[in-house]
Amino acid sequence: MSDDAVLYSTQGDVGIITINNPPVNALRNAVRTGIKDGVEKFVADPAVKAIVLIGGGRTFIAGADIKEFGKPPSGPDLNSVIATMENAPKPIVAALHGTALGGGLETAFGAHYRVIAPTGKVGLPEVHLGLLPGAGGTQRLPRLMGAKAALDAILSGAHISAGKAKATGIVDEIVEGDLLTEAVKYAHKLAADKAPLKKIRDKKATLESPVLFEETEKAIARKSRGFLAPFHIIKTVKAAVELPFDQGMKRERELFQELLTSSQSAAQRFYFFAEREAAKVKDVPSDTPMREIKAAGIIGAGTMGGGIAMNFANAGIPVTVLENDQAALDRGLKTIRTNYENTARRGGMKAEDVDKRMALITPTLSYDDLKNADIIIEAVFETMEVKEQVFKKLDQVAKPGAILATNTSGLDINQIASYTKRPQDVIGMHFFSPANVMKLLENVRGKATSKDVIATVMNLSKKIGKVPVLVGVCEGFVGNRMLRQRGVQASYLIEEGATPQQVDKVLYDFGFPMGPFAMSDLAGNDVGWRIRQGKKESQQSNTRYSGYVADAICEQGRFGQKTGKGWFLYNLPDRTPIPDPEVQKIIEETSKRLGIKRREISDQEILERTLYPMVNEGAKILEEGMAQRALDIDVIWVNGYGWPVYRGGPMFWADQIGVKKIYDALNKYHEQTGDAFWKPAPLLKKLAETGGTFASL
Ligand code: 3HC
Ligand code: NAI
Repeated sequence: MSDDAVLYSTQGDVGIITINNPPVNALRNAVRTGIKDGVEKFVADPAVKAIVLIGGGRTFIAGADIKEFGKPPSGPDLNSVIATMENAPKPIVAALHGTALGGGLETAFGAHYRVIAPTGKVGLPEVHLGLLPGAGGTQRLPRLMGAKAALDAILSGAHISAGKAKATGIVDEIVEGDLLTEAVKYAHKLAADKAPLKKIRDKKATLESPVLFEETEKAIARKSRGFLAPFHIIKTVKAAVELPFDQGMKRERELFQELLTSSQSAAQRFYFFAEREAAKVKDVPSDTPMREIKAAGIIGAGTMGGGIAMNFANAGIPVTVLENDQAALDRGLKTIRTNYENTARRGGMKAEDVDKRMALITPTLSYDDLKNADIIIEAVFETMEVKEQVFKKLDQVAKPGAILATNTSGLDINQIASYTKRPQDVIGMHFFSPANVMKLLENVRGKATSKDVIATVMNLSKKIGKVPVLVGVCEGFVGNRMLRQRGVQASYLIEEGATPQQVDKVLYDFGFPMGPFAMSDLAGNDVGWRIRQGKKESQQSNTRYSGYVADAICEQGRFGQKTGKGWFLYNLPDRTPIPDPEVQKIIEETSKRLGIKRREISDQEILERTLYPMVNEGAKILEEGMAQRALDIDVIWVNGYGWPVYRGGPMFWADQIGVKKIYDALNKYHEQTGDAFWKPAPLLKKLAETGGTFASL
């Protein structure tokens, strides 16, 4: 039996099945049962000649209920529901609006006809959950649109517009006006006309090229490295082309089950909810009133300021960019335009939109032009003196209630706030470079930041296309603070006997897009060098200095890709890192100078020594309340630092391999080295001793 998750009604001779399972009509058991019962009921009712399946509320069905995965199955499986629809002797019309995704679209494929509202979208996004469409999507979509287009759609998981859905045969009609009224009319007419009961399963999937599958495998090899699902998807679409429908379905089922029980899908499903949870702030209720953001201001049109301005323009929010002098302003605006033009040239936006976006960005040298801004984000040089000067000025000119944000990556936001008479309006917005591309946004809560400012900024972050996570004020915030732990060990490892290419390969094979040394070459080795010089880190006492080799590398002008050499050599414009004997010489000399006897270091040791300290630091961050939950840390690492999403994130991963195992390893390294670096965080100790997990905190 279904609860009221599905409602039945009739209009004339048309039976209507309405899904009523907010917010997104996910296909939990009661919904599946309700659809099946509804079809059977209307088939048995002689007064009903045709059936409409429609979603109540904001959308058709957005897919299987992801929360049900991993639990013992109950109720009819989706394939049997779809088969009941497909075999019904009366025409069934699926009426789509909102997003018909995954199992939702597959359910619609069980209908004999599909109509869609002009704003509706469809898609098979299972790949993002480490899955493949498991209710016939891989078998029916190629039969509708051909193998090539189906592969593209399923591998990308992209949302497909109503127009494209119509053009490719996914839907029969786009209907204007009230969707239910139009769908009922359509269904009534089908019955009156005795229209054929079209079954997608009876069609043949076209294969556009005999080498499609091999070529696709090659094309996705790099982007999908490490992932299981994309390669399984190719196998299922191949089955759609080569096997009879029922056998193809069997193949789909086998491969779906394999993915469903894989650690990858478990991690990606965890991540789906983590990203949504991270946007919520525990002590800021969802009904907290928000400030209206109609206009923005940015101070500084450098690397970050320009990218940040683009985010606002992309979201249609006018933004005024202020610089110190005309030349810097011109340079900044020119870079923005060039970025847009490049995107347009690559087909990422329409050429005419370049001017439209630029028209939303107003350059200025005068603070007066910021007086209407609802939010002003500072992205000037990283020194407290400049920040002080800017925030004092903003305090004078910004309108009351304007949010004053800083993009500082390392300075104390409470101190910055103290330069104003309105610290409650000051917040950190730590964008990542390139700011127009990177999704992660660490919003930093100062001790005085008000709740409505937090609510507004978290909400605004999503509007400008970011994945927001709220963090507290501490050195490096969350992401860079953990990154530092990895960096320290990477440096020690090369002093002790590993090579940069070995360390990088271990982390690359783990699933990062690149290792720490290649990453440093990309970002510029001089950045850290300057910071180390400023901090006189070598004089810190509790842990040994980690920058000897890095300093020597920089002293030789090896700043990374921009100078053609750094930790590696580069044959620019080719950015492939090439191991350099010169670097090896520097490393070995440094080891000698430090009195370290170099030894063979195993890949396992590299993995433990670079990643376990990150988990330990994560535990400290949680103890200090600098991140709200372990999952927030995971979202930061997946979005900002390339942690492979199929491993969930560092804290999720720690739970999977066992906190105790990490704790024991930290103790082992602590005993071996006597270095305070390895001391386990009290929280890690507690979890290890009680068998707890980060997820359960
Ligand atoms: N199952 C369970 N919960 C879901 C869900 C799903 N399929 N889709 C969304 N939700 C939940 C979200 O967790 C969120 O819950 P919260 O309010 O408690 O945080 C709520 O619904 C609203 O979701 P969003 O915040 O994401 O709302 P948006 O309006 O921004 O986006 C959406 C709506 C585009 C539907 C987006 O939620 C989405 O992409 N959902 C996932 C769609 C998907 O992956 N479908 C395939 C599922 S797997 C499948 O169908 C297997 C089949 O082939 C057998
Ligand atoms: P940048 O040097 O590229 O740009 C800074 C810009 O600010 C310059 O164009 C400069 O002319 C301008 N400027 C300096 N003083 C000014 C003033 N008083 N008024 C108006 N404009 C002024 O620096 P970048 O990299 O953009 O960094 C800006 C801020 O963002 C820094 O706080 C930095 O720590 C932070 N950040 C940088 C990241 C990066 O990867 N580059 C990442 C995250 C944060």
